[in-house]
Amino acid sequence: MKERIRLAQGDLTKFLVDAIVNAANSSLLGGGGVDGAIHRAAGPELLIECRALGGCETGDAKITRGYSLPARHVIHTVGPIYRGGHSGESQKLSRCYRRCFEVAAENGLKSLAFPSISTGAYGYPINEACQIALKTSLEQLKRFPEMERAIFVCFSGRDLMIYAKQLAEL
Ligand code: APR
Repeated sequence: MKERIRLAQGDLTKFLVDAIVNAANSSLLGGGGVDGAIHRAAGPELLIECRALGGCETGDAKITRGYSLPARHVIHTVGPIYRGGHSGESQKLSRCYRRCFEVAAENGLKSLAFPSISTGAYGYPINEACQIALKTSLEQLKRFPEMERAIFVCFSGRDLMIYAKQLAEL
């Protein structure tokens, strides 16, 4: 299972996979961080398609085309805002990863690239978020054998080290 997980450091918008995952907000109308980078790289048609989706609940995921991105699709998910860890944040974050795999499988996709959902503007501590990301994704790779690879794209070297350490321990 772990051989189907890859770690990388870089700009998620550059990855040539079936779908990159956007750490969006519930409006799906764009924002900063990776959301902003994806909309800038995809071009204005992405926002037009997103407008028609009518938003997205925290913990859910919706798919669009990738337009000018190398990735064929974008799967938009809304992570939880971290409020101390006692209002179901871990379940909501885990559901984000699960729903992204489900949406990818429903659309016959074989490769996914994730950012570190909720660990930027939404304030989720990276160590806890990474643990949830890797554990949930390993479960989903078992559930969906047709999914060939899941790449975790860290923006910083620090985050990459955390992912590498935790993946080795799983
Ligand atoms: N490629 C890969 N990772 C990136 C990129 C990029 N181009 N840009 C930012 N990141 C990383 C951040 O360093 C962080 O580790 O993505 C992770 C998630 O951070 P955010 O993008 O801030 O997302 P999140 O914490 O989930 O907050 C979502 O921010 O941008 C708004 O509209 C978005 O309201 C939503 C909120």
